[in-house]
Amino acid sequence: MKIDEKIRARIENLREKITRYDFLYYVKGEPEISDREYDRMYAELKTLEEEHPEYITADSPTRRVGGEPLKEFKTVKHAVPMLSLENTYSREEVAEWEKRIRKKVPLKEGFVIEEKLDGVSISVTYEKGKLILAASRGNGISGDDITGNILTQRVIPLVLRTDNPPDSVEIRGEMFLKISELRRINEVREKNGEPVFANPRNTCAGTLKLLDPAEVSERRLSAYFYGFGRWDGTSPPLTQMKLLEIYEEWGLPVNSTYSQCASIEEVFESYERLADERADRDYDIDGTVVKVNLFREHDVLGATSRNPRWAIAYKFESKKATTTVREIIFSVGRTGIITPVAKLEPVGIGGVTVSSATLHNFDQVRKLGVSAGDRVEVERGGDVIPKIVSVIKASGSHRPVVPPGKCPACGHTVKKDINGVFYRCSNIRCPAQLKQKILHYASIDAMNIEGLGENIAQQLVERGFVRNISDLYSLDMEKLLSLDLFAEKKARKLLDAVRNGRNCALSNFIYALGIQNVGKHTAKILARRFGSVNGLMNAGRAALMDIDEIGPIVSESIMDFFESDTNQDEIKELLKNGVRPVHQEGGRKLSGLKFVFTGTMKNFTRKAAAARIEALGGAESSSVTADTDYLVAGENPGSKLDKAKEKGIKIINEEEFTELAGK
Ligand code: IVH
Repeated sequence: MKIDEKIRARIENLREKITRYDFLYYVKGEPEISDREYDRMYAELKTLEEEHPEYITADSPTRRVGGEPLKEFKTVKHAVPMLSLENTYSREEVAEWEKRIRKKVPLKEGFVIEEKLDGVSISVTYEKGKLILAASRGNGISGDDITGNILTQRVIPLVLRTDNPPDSVEIRGEMFLKISELRRINEVREKNGEPVFANPRNTCAGTLKLLDPAEVSERRLSAYFYGFGRWDGTSPPLTQMKLLEIYEEWGLPVNSTYSQCASIEEVFESYERLADERADRDYDIDGTVVKVNLFREHDVLGATSRNPRWAIAYKFESKKATTTVREIIFSVGRTGIITPVAKLEPVGIGGVTVSSATLHNFDQVRKLGVSAGDRVEVERGGDVIPKIVSVIKASGSHRPVVPPGKCPACGHTVKKDINGVFYRCSNIRCPAQLKQKILHYASIDAMNIEGLGENIAQQLVERGFVRNISDLYSLDMEKLLSLDLFAEKKARKLLDAVRNGRNCALSNFIYALGIQNVGKHTAKILARRFGSVNGLMNAGRAALMDIDEIGPIVSESIMDFFESDTNQDEIKELLKNGVRPVHQEGGRKLSGLKFVFTGTMKNFTRKAAAARIEALGGAESSSVTADTDYLVAGENPGSKLDKAKEKGIKIINEEEFTELAGK
């Protein structure tokens, strides 16, 4: 075999393997190889494809990543409208529906009952078995082209596993987020000081609406398919049961909880079973969908302008109860968000006693108009914290709930986030946030204090050994040995880790401070731009806003953080304790230098020059100020040249710049 053919064969082999493992992992839920092995194969395929772009195909698993962010979605018209379902909670109404349709069709193949997934409906078009388009439901007539986002989700096959695919088939189903995946996403968000998402449905909908596929790819959505729109080139199956079987054969994810029911009595039995099993699911369902099995009967029954007559959503009673609000308190979350919580007269809902309910945020409180003494309706959904749905009867003495000016845990001033509806305590020393702050400070991308985990952080806070992060540096052998499960060796190791961690990269230290909206990436940018802790602490709003990648929300969070005296004191305390953040990146010869360009450059674009400067530790800016170090003047320079002369700033030409920055 020639070398080229060998490479091509290897590429094909890798593609087949990865596609199969995706199927096993995401569709079947039965992984066969380790993540590491998978990553290795994926990396090999990517490299081979980069070296041999002539072998890249539209169905390669590498196509799932890398889509560019969009400005807006294109609109697509659905070939067959995406309708919605008639809803009911009542058995009588389902029985009436059955009677009504039995007059028109013999119900020869009975019904199929499926779970009604609480997600977002999508349509995915495959041409000759290859995925070419994915669309959201939109208004039912047309929706958004969300192909780039859907491609990132490995649960959606790029190619159907069949030798005889239809010329074109539009497959419909539901995208949703597993409850466990929501939990995972929220854990990461908590760590980054971002507000957590309230429920899987909205998170899923929000994710599919993101314009940047790279962001979508960081979340793992799930999907189940159950219907079709257009079907050209082969004959569609005759029944819903057969459709689901074929989808499974094709490697599409199908919810296996469906069943065929010969009579409406059997439908009711299955409904009860699904209702019982609901709590065991890792995803939210809000009821069932009962469908006529035989497609020929669908055609006879037809549809109203909004709903098909061949199906009905038979929903579960939501778990609600009424009770009285005792008082409304404020609780400080681990990231400083202050949440109003209603303390309730205990009430049983679906076998669980509920005595408090979250009110989410102050806007929500205002909308509900709730205050102490009111009779309220409380709902407990799948896995979420109970919430107040409505006020049934006001107590009469309405006392509006005012957001606290001071943090109930530490008394620090509370501020409203500019990006949302949250009130937040940004005191680095707030005890309510302390444990989480310690864990963040010690984490691998921050100060990397090995051995400082959940259990130890908890004990340190409980015993009062650590009241501020800087107290970590006053820990000693005696204190550590008094903790549970601590022997000398372990204590010594932890003390060493704390001490050795003090010589750290500036970017790690900035990240470790846990400033809201400042993740690892932003911390690096800040370190590069300001070069020292003091540089950052004294940077004004203008200098922050001057950085391309930093917008008003992030700079506001940074300003906010450093404006607080306690935060400033805490940083001083850390430095006093020997923390030495330094900014040093190899070969960064323009470190801390600021450049401004004017006029036309012959050999490079301004963007390329800016990137070069940044890579070498310097910064590029658009206007000449007192702290500009160099003005690079090209052909036909503008007024910046005069300004630079006036301020006595060093002026260099293009050649001199190239010499300085290299190529
Ligand atoms: S069949 C004509 N089956 O419920 C629509 N829909 O209110 C036929 N849904 O937009 C839809 N699970 O997003 C069907 N097993 C299921 C479903 C399901 C959830 C959603 C779907 C649809 C909405 C209808």
